[in-house]
This record gives sequence, structure tokens and C-alpha cells, in this order.
Amino acid sequence: MELIIRKTTQDAVKLVATIITDAVIEKPNITLGLATGGTMEKLYDKIALMHKEEKIDFSLVKSFNLDEYIGLEPTDKNSYRFYMNHHLFDKINIDKRNTHIPSGVNEDTLEEGEIYEALIEEAGGLDIQLLGIGLTGHIGFNEPLSSFASRTRAKTLAPTTLAQNGPYFGSAEKTPKRAMTMGVGTILDAGMVIMLATGASKADIIAKTVEGPITPMISASALHFHPNCIIVCDEAAAEKLQNKDYYNSIFETDPKWEPYRNI
Ligand code: F6R
Repeated sequence: MELIIRKTTQDAVKLVATIITDAVIEKPNITLGLATGGTMEKLYDKIALMHKEEKIDFSLVKSFNLDEYIGLEPTDKNSYRFYMNHHLFDKINIDKRNTHIPSGVNEDTLEEGEIYEALIEEAGGLDIQLLGIGLTGHIGFNEPLSSFASRTRAKTLAPTTLAQNGPYFGSAEKTPKRAMTMGVGTILDAGMVIMLATGASKADIIAKTVEGPITPMISASALHFHPNCIIVCDEAAAEKLQNKDYYNSIFETDPKWEPYRNI
């Protein structure tokens, strides 16, 4: 795991956007695993801007989103399909037929999980999986106690997550209680994982994820098992890490970060 700390949210977002667009330039038919949520809105704005200004071509890119609320039609404005079209897909030249999000309306959730896993496999797996982090330490909607071997399936959302996402629905009570989500095992199979965490509200869970014990009570701690995982934080989200100087020295010293140091 590598921990990269940037001064501002904007700097952290720019760095992640550059890593992703560089990967798209290098492999135009890349398969990206995508996330939703407040953190990603700024990232998708930046990627859309880079597409426009730097002519980054997404025409051959395939994508798989992490999750979708159970019960929401893709046309529902709180669905993650609606979110992705609105924040990213309608602003870049991706072919929407190559974009995938688990169905929230297939009543057979076991079947839906199998269909989604098969689609990922057919695409040759995920080259890069982008992640945010929830206050429970979830990645995707893998709430505490998710098996590190789990695959795409239905999960019940934790009360903390219902409260975190409640404002989008008017209240925690109105928030769907369950979601389809890629499993921790699905995420760990990606070629590379990039987590973006910004803001002071993420400081506690980032410190626990990075420097605390590996535990199924914090699904993100499973990322220590991934051989190519980067966590990019702004200073607010990195605030409670004990070893910031060490992480900064790696970024300053490792030649592979050279092109990204001044971003
Ligand atoms: C969304 C997802 C979640 C979010 C996490 C952080 O697809 O998988 O894990 O990334 O809940 O959400 P925000 O960015 O709203 O704090």
C-alpha cells in the first residue's frame, strides 16, 4: 500500500484524475471499476474537464460500477446509474453500452451477482478499481463483517451508512436498506486499486484502515492484501495518521512518482 498526501482536496483530486487519464492514454480499451458518492463528484468533474481540454479519449473504455441500491430503477434520480450518467458518462465520449452497474431491480439478487461477476470476467477483469471510503470503513457497500472473499451480492447497509447517505433521500429512514455491491474479493482481484479520501470526516477511518489491524470490521483494511494499492488523501483526511513523514518520504523518493510530484 502507498499513501499519498496532498495539501488540498483539489490537489488530491487532480492527482487521481491524472493517474486515471494517464492509464486511459496508455491502454485505450482499459476496464475501469468506478465508484459514486460525494467524494467522486469532484473527481468526475475534473476527468470531464480533462476529456474536453486534453482530448482524452474514452470511446473504447469499459466500466463497472461498484454498487447500486436495491429497489431503485436506473431512471430514479438517486440511483447510481443516474448519478454516473449525470456526473460522468454524459460528459465524456464513453459508449454507454460499455458501462455496467449492477441492477437494483433484479429480484433474484443471487442471479444478479452471478451475472455481474460473469460480465467482469468476460471483460478480462478490472484494470483499475477506484474507491471511496465510508464512515464504517466500507469499500463499495461492503459493510462490517463482509468476507474478504466475498463477490458481488446483496448487502444490508449499516446504520452509519444510512445516516451518511440519508441527506440524498431526505432522511436515513427513507434511504434504501440494501444494495447490490461488488465483494471485497471482487475488488481485490483488480489489477490496481486507487482510493480517494478527502475531508476531516474521513480522518478517523483512514487512520484505522491504514495503521490499524486488518479486520473484517473495516472492509477497507483488506486493501493491505492488494499488491498494488494507492490511497490518495488530502491533509484533512490524513490528519490522524501517525506516520505521515514516512509516507511523504516515499512519495518524494520513489522514482515512479516523479511525474506526479508537482501535481
Ligand atoms: C459508492 C461507494 C461507497 C462510497 C463511500 C464514500 O459507490 O461504493 O463506498 O465511496 O460511501 O462516499 P462519500 O464520497 O459520499 O463520502
